[in-house]
Amino acid sequence: MNINVSNFRQEVSKVRLSKGAFDELLSATKNIEPEIQRDRFDAKPAFINSLLLPALSEELHRIRNMIDHESHVLILDGFRVEKLASFKSLVWTFGSLLGVPMVQNHLGHKVIEVYDRGGKSIEEGARYHQTRQGAYVHNDGVSDPLPIDYLILACGQKALLGGESILIDASAVYAELMAYPEVLEELKCDFFFDNRGMSDEEQLFKAPILSFSNEGIPLIRYFRVYIESAHLKAGVPLTLAQSQALDFLDTVLDQSSVQHRVLLEPGQVLISADNKFLHTRTHFIDKSTPRSEINDSEPLSDLNRYMLRMWLRKQ
Ligand SMILES: [Fe+2]
Repeated sequence: MNINVSNFRQEVSKVRLSKGAFDELLSATKNIEPEIQRDRFDAKPAFINSLLLPALSEELHRIRNMIDHESHVLILDGFRVEKLASFKSLVWTFGSLLGVPMVQNHLGHKVIEVYDRGGKSIEEGARYHQTRQGAYVHNDGVSDPLPIDYLILACGQKALLGGESILIDASAVYAELMAYPEVLEELKCDFFFDNRGMSDEEQLFKAPILSFSNEGIPLIRYFRVYIESAHLKAGVPLTLAQSQALDFLDTVLDQSSVQHRVLLEPGQVLISADNKFLHTRTHFIDKSTPRSEINDSEPLSDLNRYMLRMWLRKQ
């Protein structure tokens, strides 16, 4: 594996699988393709026999280690393929070998296609992966008490203009907020969250916005709009102190000093520890009129901005 290690303050580390490991990944992809033709492509996870896929097993281990203990984020390059169907099966195979794919919506889907459907706005009720709008800074693992260990965002096609990913390290946010101990104390207390989009049955739970791993690394759980609506559903309005703490947090999240921007190119896969990095994206403009459905046989080069998202837990 070629690792171009750089300090995250300047640039996100870029990694590429070795030729041997990538060939092993392609062979694992071929093994699950007949299953994909029968079911939805994310119905059955790939499995790894480390004896048969030694190079890939070793490099997946290295990637997990980087996300768990080192940079907490990286860009994996080299997943550029021609057809949408191949991209889906490549990303699905890779993701299901890296970790255990989680269900991401009430339909049981484990891979979410992120592209503008040309329909409703976020304010009109759409989930942001169906729009071209910039969104609030957040992390994805806010709908379940357990965190997402690995968030994957794989770029099949970029926009005509815009659509940068903005990444914010929770450690940098914590460092900025250390000047305001009363804000930190508030954020370490419980807030209400809900299981929005995950099930027809609504469930509320409590969790702190800011907490710490066993290693003492700051962990974050934040999506302001969801927290505010969960508090309304619970019949427990946010206190003035809580609202002010969120205002401080939002203001820090808005500072260029904590933000890192990357524009993913087709074939690049962003992997991050979801509870250690917040993210959002900028508005974008596509080259063609948006469509609600895209056929798997289409070449990626014809598509508007198109990403696949996976949420993984450690095995
Ligand atoms: Fe997100």
